[in-house]
Amino acid sequence: MSTEDPVKLMKQQVGTAAAARVQSGSIVGLGTGSTTAFAIQALGDRLKSGDLKDIKGVPTSFQAIVLARQNHIPLVSLDEIDHIDVAIDGADEVDPQKNLIKGGGAAHTQEKIVDSLADLFIVVVDGGKLVDRLGSTFLLPVEVVPMAVTPVMRAIEKLGGKPELRMGVKKAGPVVTDNGNLVVDVKFDSIDNPAELEKTLNNIPGVLENGIFAGVANVVLVGEIIDGKPTVREV
Ligand code: A5P
Repeated sequence: MSTEDPVKLMKQQVGTAAAARVQSGSIVGLGTGSTTAFAIQALGDRLKSGDLKDIKGVPTSFQAIVLARQNHIPLVSLDEIDHIDVAIDGADEVDPQKNLIKGGGAAHTQEKIVDSLADLFIVVVDGGKLVDRLGSTFLLPVEVVPMAVTPVMRAIEKLGGKPELRMGVKKAGPVVTDNGNLVVDVKFDSIDNPAELEKTLNNIPGVLENGIFAGVANVVLVGEIIDGKPTVREV
């Protein structure tokens, strides 16, 4: 992967910093997205060099499975383990209370399952993801069972949201998730209480999961370029 683009460079630094926190023998939740991809690559590099031994990965998406295989990280399913030591995952927005919006890659349902089970959930983002209030820059993804998409969109409108069905790129028709469902991206003018909205949306029949992760993140690592140099700081 090229590291010349400053955003990519920040993602690489922060992904590598998160991977450096993983200890030998750990069960590791492997998130989804371009930042976590660097973390998975760095875990693979540490395994290859012998710096890290005997880890097992729990993937959050088909993308994570592919990257883990490419980097020779053994995978396990949730049926085979009784805990996850640490999960590393990206985010689309992070507020000052470490609440997140996720789902830019339509993987938030499996991500929430894995990230919530981890003893330590490390979020990896570049500085552009930090916001004062969730929903400021990013639409909120909601995974919906296909037959329910119309009533779910109506119910979301009643809550004050403006939903739009996510369409595929280089694929005709809507995005279909790894779970075989659709994604509705919702604009809310203001998300005042993320924890409450997370529950309210999940209560609509037909909604599988939404992209608000309230109170799940333990550590947020932020990649920034300061004075031309990539740095990583912990929020
Ligand atoms: C996947 O559905 C998302 O939750 C990603 O983790 C999130 O979009 C962050 O991705 P990037 O690291 O590519 O920005």
